[in-house]
Amino acid sequence: MNVQGLRCLVTGAASGIGDSAARQLTDRGAIVISLDRNKPTADVAEHVEIDLADPASIDSALARLDGTFDVLANVAGIPGTAPAEMVFRVNFLGLRHLTESLFERLNQGGSIVNVSSTAGFQWALRLDALRELIATETFDEGLQWFRDHPQQGNAYNFAKEAVTVYTMAMGGAVREMGELRINAVLPGPVETPILADFEASMGKETLDGVKAFLGRHAIPAEIAPVVVFLASRESRWINGATIIADGGISGAVLSGLVPPPQI
Ligand SMILES: NC(=O)c1ccc[n+]([C@@H]2O[C@H](COP(=O)([O-])OP(=O)(O)OC[C@H]3O[C@@H](n4cnc5c(N)ncnc54)[C@H](O)[C@@H]3O)[C@@H](O)[C@H]2O)c1
Repeated sequence: MNVQGLRCLVTGAASGIGDSAARQLTDRGAIVISLDRNKPTADVAEHVEIDLADPASIDSALARLDGTFDVLANVAGIPGTAPAEMVFRVNFLGLRHLTESLFERLNQGGSIVNVSSTAGFQWALRLDALRELIATETFDEGLQWFRDHPQQGNAYNFAKEAVTVYTMAMGGAVREMGELRINAVLPGPVETPILADFEASMGKETLDGVKAFLGRHAIPAEIAPVVVFLASRESRWINGATIIADGGISGAVLSGLVPPPQI
């Protein structure tokens, strides 16, 4: 996986999957710039504080950064135990605002990697609503749409459905802008600090059921290589794709082998 010399923006680099992705990119010779509300411990080239819940903070973080970039890895996220609107701001609206604000600063052949989740696996059931949401043009319009269209279930799942569908929908559009590409990684449960919140919001029994089926949860270092691959030069023909990294639980659910989890 060749990422040597690529300038990579990584959100969420201060913890969990983002921390691991930042380390694995750096180990392979990439130049990593962290965007997070907290300081990373990984040895990154630069860190800029950002609050993805706030478009003004995103704009000011970008104004503090020089130059152009080869990779944007959108890893940051918060669990469904946070207030619904906050979850939607950080996990979808902020990700989209950051991504679209960077289009003109991504180099030819650049790669956008979104960390979505298998929690958004039921996106097809809400495709019409998701398409309406994605048709909104700004952070504020998207927020207004969310307020006007209350969704069933946890905002975390809805926000991840939105990231997944946004990723698939944007592949063609970004290709026209200088052979950019955009893909998503969909992890199942991963041992990171937010796992306890997932147990609270999705049900400990559900997560324990997944763990029992697979034998264990993933660790961040098992998700990070998928981010690195999608960032790398070798994955250049992969675009608009969603890559599941969940040890096999989605395949078992989608093929009808095990019942879908109630999340
Ligand atoms: N851990 C899991 O089981 C799991 C499963 C599927 C998907 N995911 C997704 O993976 C991504 C990374 O999660 P993780 O498990 O590494 O969690 P984590 O809590 O370890 O890391 C999340 C990072 O995001 C940053 N962050 C949170 N809110 C922010 C904000 N408003 N502005 C800027 N930075 C902010 C945090 O400071 C932290 O560094 C998230 O998008 C999450 O939804 C996690």
